[in-house]
Amino acid sequence: MAIKDIQEEILRLKKEKDICILAHCYQSPEILEIADFTGDSFALSVSASKVENKTVIMCGVRFMAETCKILSPEKTVILSNADAGCPMAEMMDKETISEVKELYPEHTVVAYINTTSELKTVCDVCVTSSSALKICKKLDSDKILFIPDCNLGDWISKQLPEKEFKLLNGGCPTHARMSAADVKKAKEAHPNALFLVHPECKPEVVSLADYVGSTTGIMDYAKKSEAKEFIIGTENSIVTHLQLECPEKRFYPLSKDCICHNMKATTLVDVLNCCKGTGGEVIELDEETRLGAKRCIDKMIELG
Ligand code: 13P
Ligand code: SF4
Repeated sequence: MAIKDIQEEILRLKKEKDICILAHCYQSPEILEIADFTGDSFALSVSASKVENKTVIMCGVRFMAETCKILSPEKTVILSNADAGCPMAEMMDKETISEVKELYPEHTVVAYINTTSELKTVCDVCVTSSSALKICKKLDSDKILFIPDCNLGDWISKQLPEKEFKLLNGGCPTHARMSAADVKKAKEAHPNALFLVHPECKPEVVSLADYVGSTTGIMDYAKKSEAKEFIIGTENSIVTHLQLECPEKRFYPLSKDCICHNMKATTLVDVLNCCKGTGGEVIELDEETRLGAKRCIDKMIELG
């Protein structure tokens, strides 16, 4: 079957079975083309809370499908590929963070949305890369325990010197792979390019950027900018999407190694199989976990 035929079959089944397809912008172009909603983690969480379809297919990683189920328990939520996890989300567990909280009883626990539902039950509020600054700023508390991404936490803490941040040693293995040496090499190769970076990268990489933001933040900045060339410091699918959307501009990956294999696990055929009812994983959460995690996500949507 050709890609176009698979896409047409997905669109037909989607309509027939009242399915909504959500896709994170690290997915491949052929998946983004058949999705009802695309975007970064925050945009997908908001879309997940609004859709009315009976079934939702999440093309992304497990915590994103869990976010959907938390917000829409009455829906059938399917993770398009059961192997697509997020190593950062699985880095810290509820027991460890409960112990850390005892050491910092006055701190508000801010959890990046890239965490398991179980871990969210012991946190106070969730954030995404595009909402983290706004939410941390708005919080009444001036003491924040920020988990699990110390790079994102570091970037936020530098912009809020009036608040005290406690960071733990966690983060995204894909973004943390990029180094200041990669930036130097890319800038030497493309001296006229602006350098746009995701805050999941290390502080020494982020400090060299012309712009720091979430995946959609980076895309919006590049599309609106007068500049013609950009070095992209995030997952390399963003380079492809930008190049397709802005053919008159040039986009270069900061490193050819910035690929998230979990985000790339989902194929168009996986999505087709989910629509047919023969693939993916239906997400189930016990009610206590769902409500505990929902408190954190509701707070994020309210403040963000
Ligand atoms: P955003 O979608 O919030 O930019 O996060 C990037 C990411 O790594 C998602 O897993
Ligand atoms: Fe997780 Fe990083 Fe992959 Fe995003 S890019 S899903 S944070 S490992």
